[in-house]
Formats: sequence, structure tokens, C-alpha cells
Amino acid sequence: MPYQTLRAEMDHHTLVITINRPDKLNALNQQVMQELDAVMDRVYKFPEIRSVIITGSGEKSFVAGADIKEFQSLSKADATALAKKGQSIFFKIENSPKPVVACVNGFALGGGCELAMSCHFIIASENALFGQPEVNLGIMVGYGGSQRLTQKVGKARAMELVVTGNTINAAQALEYGLVNYVVPQADLIAKATSLLAASHSKAPVAVANSIKAVNAAWDESVNGFDTEADLFGACFITDDCKEGIQAFLEKRKPEFKGH
Ligand code: COA
Repeated sequence: MPYQTLRAEMDHHTLVITINRPDKLNALNQQVMQELDAVMDRVYKFPEIRSVIITGSGEKSFVAGADIKEFQSLSKADATALAKKGQSIFFKIENSPKPVVACVNGFALGGGCELAMSCHFIIASENALFGQPEVNLGIMVGYGGSQRLTQKVGKARAMELVVTGNTINAAQALEYGLVNYVVPQADLIAKATSLLAASHSKAPVAVANSIKAVNAAWDESVNGFDTEADLFGACFITDDCKEGIQAFLEKRKPEFKGH
């Protein structure tokens, strides 16, 4: 499917999504958001997609925020609807049954930081810069940043970042626990690919259920321990569970079929 603002390319069962507005530092306009929504539907639908990488085009920016131009003359109702729509797209990323990794290759500001945080984990290049500078514009985070940043770095650090608009570099983001790894920019995709290759060799239902269980830790509408027990039980009705256990007992590699 052709996209105007994204590139979406398969690489060994990983769909690499590149936000492609380099002249605007990959800012998230409504077209990018609609296309992200549509490409995530493909991720859910097609079994040959086992994992996803989201990155930005060029060497300077992952995503420098929501497109500020589109904020001119928004009404209160428009702005609330925009935030809700953005949040729903980022929920779709967060709840993806296949692992989604953000490869942050430069600025991850505002909506860019929020997009990265909606992914299951983040790998940053050495030149990455994270922040929620919305207060500089007289506005605030709107695509889930106040919630996910607090979950990821704790209340005090999240509060400091959202009220000052200050940025943190890759080394600080690593220290904060916001990112899992910092690597040279040239190694960014390879690092993600090698981690995702490990997950491709596992049973897809076990991987999807594991993602759901971890996400349940942050979902106040469910009991995470009950969710985990139910999902654990659900693994036992899959053929892949029988195969995994049998293969261990027979001292061979399992051959998972995805059901
Ligand atoms: N929305 C719309 N356009 C953006 C943008 C955004 N969030 N961030 C950058 N751009 C555009 C600039 O307007 C410029 O376009 P132009 O060449 O047509 O004028 C282009 O991208 C390059 O940006 P520029 O500011 O010239 O690059 P820089 O290297 O000097 O500065 C930043 C980089 C990221 C520090 C700066 O662009 C910036 O502060 N961006 C906004 C960050 C932000 O507030 N994000 C949260 C938005 S809610």
C-alpha cells in the first residue's frame, strides 16, 4: 500500500516504518497520523509481520513533534478531539500483539517522544534528544505523554520535564530508564533487528500474550495478576505450547507454527 508520509518496508519479518518528512524534521501532521493508524492495522492483520521498527528519515530527527502549523486556530473541542485521536493511534501501537521498537535517530520532541514511548521499548542513537517542549508553545502534552513518561521515568523526573520543557540527551535517557540501549546511529536498525530476530524464533501467541500481560501492569481497569494467569492458561491450548515443551524434553529446537 503506498503512503505519502511513511516508508513501510519488510525486512526478515520486521516491518520497518520510517516517518518520511525530513524537511519538517518528520513532524506528525494529520496525514502521518492517519497513515500510522493504517499501517498499524496491517501489523495486526498480517501474520508474516512478526515485529515492527519505527524510525525517522534522515540523521537529524526521529520526530520533532506534532506539526505545530496545524495547531493554528484550533478550537477547544478540535484540540481535545485531536488529542483523543492521537492517543487512540498510540494505544494501537502500545497494544500491538507484535513487538514494536522505536529506533530514535535524533530529535524525539513532543509527539515524537510520545510516539517513541508508545512503542514497547526504545533504542536511541548517540545524538538522540528527548523532551516534552509543549509548554514553550503555551500548550501541553496531548498524545499520552503525561501518563507514559510518568510510568517510564517516575513522577519527579516526568514532572520536571513537562513543566520546564527541558530536553535530555541519549545518555541521560539511558540513566532515566527511558531507553534500553544507546548505540552509534549507523548501528541503530541492526541493534533492533538482532533483538527482534530473537523474538521471531519464539511462539507468536506466547509473545503476544507476554506483551498483553506487561501492558496490564499499567491498565487500572484490569487486575494484572489475573490477566497474567488467564493469558498463561491460554498458552496451554496452543499447538506451539505442546511443541515447545516436547522439543525441550527431546533436546531439540522447537518448530513453532504460530497457533
Ligand atoms: N512542527 C512543524 N514544523 C516543524 C516542527 C514541528 N514540530 N519541528 C520542526 N519543524 C520544521 C521547521 O519549521 C522547519 O521548517 P521550514 O524549513 O519550512 O522553516 C524545519 O522543520 C526545520 O526545522 P528548524 O527549526 O529550522 O531546525 P533546527 O535544527 O534549527 O531546530 C528544533 C530543530 C527541533 C530544535 C526546532 O525545529 C524545534 O524547536 N521544533 C519544534 C519542537 C517542538 O516544540 N515540538 C513539540 C510540538 S507540540
